[in-house]
Amino acid sequence: MASLLPLRSCLSFFLFFLVAIQPVTAVWPAPKNFTKGNTVLYLHQAVKITYNGDPLSYTYGYVPRDITSKEVVQAGVSRTLDGIFGSKFVPWKLHKPGSQFEPDLHKGQKWISTFEIVQTAKDKPSTFKPLAGEVDESYKLSVSAEGAAKLTAASSIGILRGLETFSQLFYQHSAGTFWYTPYAPVEVEDSPQFPHRGILMDTARHFFPVEDILRTIDAMSWNKLNRLHIHVTDSQSWPLVLPSMPEVSEKGAYHPSQTYSPTDIENIQRYGAIRGVEVYFEIDMPGHIGVVALSHPELIVAYNELPYHWWCAQPPCGAFKLNSTEVDKFLEKLFDDFLPRVAPYAAYFHTGGDELNKNDSMLDDGVRSNSSDVLQPLLQKFIDAQHGRVRKAGLTPVVWEEIPLEWNITIADDTVVQAWLGEQSVKKLTEKGLKVIDSNYNFWYLDCGRGQWLNWDNGAAFQLGYPFNDWCNPTKSWRLVYSHDPVAGLTPEQAKLVLGGEVAVWSETIDSTNFDTLVWPRASAAGEVLWSGRIDFATGQNRSQLDAAPRLNEFRERMVLRGVRSSPVQMTFCTQGKPEECEYAP
Ligand SMILES: *[C@@H]1O[C@H](CO)[C@@H](O)[C@H](O)[C@H]1NC(C)=O
Ligand SMILES: *[C@@H]1O[C@H](CO)[C@@H](O)[C@H](O)[C@H]1NC(C)=O
Ligand SMILES: *[C@@H]1O[C@H](CO)[C@@H](O)[C@H](O)[C@H]1NC(C)=O
Ligand SMILES: *[C@@H]1O[C@H](CO)[C@@H](O)[C@H](O)[C@H]1NC(C)=O
Ligand SMILES: *[C@@H]1O[C@H](CO)[C@@H](O)[C@H](O)[C@H]1NC(C)=O
Ligand SMILES: *[C@@H]1O[C@H](CO)[C@@H](O)[C@H](O)[C@H]1NC(C)=O
Repeated sequence: MASLLPLRSCLSFFLFFLVAIQPVTAVWPAPKNFTKGNTVLYLHQAVKITYNGDPLSYTYGYVPRDITSKEVVQAGVSRTLDGIFGSKFVPWKLHKPGSQFEPDLHKGQKWISTFEIVQTAKDKPSTFKPLAGEVDESYKLSVSAEGAAKLTAASSIGILRGLETFSQLFYQHSAGTFWYTPYAPVEVEDSPQFPHRGILMDTARHFFPVEDILRTIDAMSWNKLNRLHIHVTDSQSWPLVLPSMPEVSEKGAYHPSQTYSPTDIENIQRYGAIRGVEVYFEIDMPGHIGVVALSHPELIVAYNELPYHWWCAQPPCGAFKLNSTEVDKFLEKLFDDFLPRVAPYAAYFHTGGDELNKNDSMLDDGVRSNSSDVLQPLLQKFIDAQHGRVRKAGLTPVVWEEIPLEWNITIADDTVVQAWLGEQSVKKLTEKGLKVIDSNYNFWYLDCGRGQWLNWDNGAAFQLGYPFNDWCNPTKSWRLVYSHDPVAGLTPEQAKLVLGGEVAVWSETIDSTNFDTLVWPRASAAGEVLWSGRIDFATGQNRSQLDAAPRLNEFRERMVLRGVRSSPVQMTFCTQGKPEECEYAP
């Protein structure tokens, strides 16, 4: 083995040298394998495109008629070219002031003549609502120096991932209507590290209009993120319209305007499916559901009980009664209404289960206890019943980690557990053989570090609360987000059970006005960890901020130009400078 060492260090020197002399190529997230040259090729709106041999014409803003392979690919091509030709990305922010970074138009143009798209296998119904690992998202992309582009994938979702990579090779020339890539010949071979790469959006603390959700789905697809988890209800509000029980949102929504109709829900899910983003829902229970008391007070205990911290984690408190046939009937009706509507577009349904406070059942005439010995069997029965309903609807249940770890509830093998409570959670869950989605709050809670939302009156409370940091302070910067490896410290067997992760965007102090700037580009950082891996397998090392920052700077510009208000990564001095000017060297 020792004899290999000099060779390896020689190789890595060579790789470093190669990277150092090439222009920055900002594909985000980083593809598994990527080689490029420095031939300039131009792209024309009339480029000849084929899909499995048939001509495919480019129509601006193409809206697919249905969710079939052909329509999904046609719409993907349209979005890709709309993005290249429409976003007007002249990358002056990424080059030294005054430098000649653009190709000379007087030297003539070599054009990309053909773009051949080949799908090597047939899509299945599950392609558009896959369980983790059920769809092959890998793709190969090449652009020859002579101008032949080719994209190959086994599924239409793989085609979408490759199209996104293709779009990130191009810039607009400042002279106007010329679009070029300076990187030909290009060879990309790419596939995701984790099958579940998501964002949790909370529409209960603040309501988000449908257009915010759709814009988020767009940005997710650019980041190769593929799961939008909508935490659609909580104790504060119930925006979800249930045709079978309209009173729940009539009483529970913040305002009649702050609701999602069945059509809204279907439009959101379809919009996602067409972009390879599966939208799935969570109705958190048996805690975090106080709002149901406004329409069905007989089902809820401890509604708005004070002081709230004896009864729940956040006001207003309120939990389902755990020993009530009325609750069971309500949930049967709720699930019969909602699950058949979401099942055509999702593989998962999240039943929550976090932060259930044992004291609540003290106020429940049917229980009158806060002892685990009494509550645990009731909760087991509750979870079994709800998960049975989820499965009957053709969906797979997801729960928060407290259900197996704090309450020792037995859950079936299919169930996915979302971990959030820190370093040991993923380890403990995978040791039990459970499938995991990682949302470690120390890294991937994007709401953290922006202060308390509760008020603290003058006097003792003020002293206690000062300086009003929130519970999960500090802010998770993109660098901290990027440093997290969901499989760190696990055995290979345990690591296989980690399906991926989600960044969480709890919305107590987040609404339409600041959502984009808080989520992007930090969710992009998690996106690269989940798509490309925290460890770069080419080097065996953690991915470096020095490699990531220039690419993220560029990708951030693309997101802004495509209509998402991503925060900046670094100041323009850094994006235009030598990287070492903005590097801390001890
Ligand atoms: C339950 O309430 C008691 C006060 O009656 C309180 O001391 C205790 O901390 C509460 N338990 C929880 C888990 O909040
Ligand atoms: C649940 O309710 C039933 C009857 O409604 C009662 O017989 C039973 O003791 C209750 N269980 C607990 C744990 O309180
Ligand atoms: C149960 O209730 C008793 C009496 O209020 C309280 O002292 C105890 O802390 C509670 N236990 C839990 C787990 O909250
Ligand atoms: C769950 O099991 C652990 C360890 O066996 C135990 O400490 C804990 O009290 C149990 N919790 C419940 C709610 O039964
Ligand atoms: C991808 O890159 C790795 C190392 O960087 C190399 O071992 C592998 O052969 C490459 N695969 C292809 C298909 O180029
Ligand atoms: C990667 O970074 C983590 C800290 O985030 C560190 O514990 C680990 O040792 C690093 N791994 C390698 C291979 O350098």
